[in-house]
Amino acid sequence: MDNLVNSKALVTGATKGIGLAVTKMLLKDGVEVNALGRDFSRFSENTLADFVGDSLQQIQCDLSNLQALEKALTTLPRDIGLLVLNAGFGRFGGLEQFSFAQIKEVVDTNLVSNLYLLKHYLPLMKANGGGDIVLVGSESALQGAKAGSVYCASKFAIRGLAQSIRAECANSNIRVNLVNPGPTDSQFFDQLNFAPMQGRDFVLDPEDVQQAIYAALQQPRHVVTEEINLQPMKRSFQKNKAR
Ligand SMILES: NC(=O)c1ccc[n+]([C@@H]2O[C@H](COP(=O)([O-])OP(=O)(O)OC[C@H]3O[C@@H](n4cnc5c(N)ncnc54)[C@H](OP(=O)(O)O)[C@@H]3O)[C@@H](O)[C@H]2O)c1
Repeated sequence: MDNLVNSKALVTGATKGIGLAVTKMLLKDGVEVNALGRDFSRFSENTLADFVGDSLQQIQCDLSNLQALEKALTTLPRDIGLLVLNAGFGRFGGLEQFSFAQIKEVVDTNLVSNLYLLKHYLPLMKANGGGDIVLVGSESALQGAKAGSVYCASKFAIRGLAQSIRAECANSNIRVNLVNPGPTDSQFFDQLNFAPMQGRDFVLDPEDVQQAIYAALQQPRHVVTEEINLQPMKRSFQKNKAR
């Protein structure tokens, strides 16, 4: 990819869904990917087999465990030119139904881990001459909804974070993009009691989100695609029969 400061990326939540689609796109384009996630059991077969090795490193880390993340940061490559902060999960329901531990897991995974990663990488990117940051937010970063208090809080905060660091980094050749997908056909819904209706009009593919990210990164370096909001043509949800 021509417009990156260097061809080394870190992608969180790279093992499946949107992060996996981004990982494949980057590898195809000659970018070295440090792929972070917890479960790599199906990663090799899902990724382009040819790339496992030099250009694809696996980093096993549970981002809900902030102490483990703090330790892992000391071992991660320092010369990252593209940071794709995508890992996250949904947990929905009335706030009263959540335990304190459940609230903490959502907020630590979806928000605080990204603050840690950015606190670590911003000075390194500045020292290396710049970089690109892509944050994967959500439609839940834009609009609150019934049963969405905890997830929306974590994603609204990502939007404020993106806006703030964009302003902080404007003189450092660091572009900050926020992508807010609507319902996307990934394993996100596996643990939820609802899912989008099946059919192309009702759900995005992870590749649709990946293409939007790619288009933003392909812009000339002085162009910042601040925010991309993506939705399927129609909205309708059904009960998740598996739950
Ligand atoms: N799907 C949607 O409808 C939708 C809509 C809007 C926004 N999003 C956002 O898009 C992002 C990607 O989700 P997806 O749709 O691709 O879902 P997915 O298929 O479930 O993928 C989620 C990714 O995040 C990783 N992850 C989750 N918890 C983690 C943890 N504690 N530590 C490290 N990695 C963790 C998972 O890796 P492991 O399982 O290997 O840990 C996986 O690679 C999330 O931030 C999600 O909130 C999704």
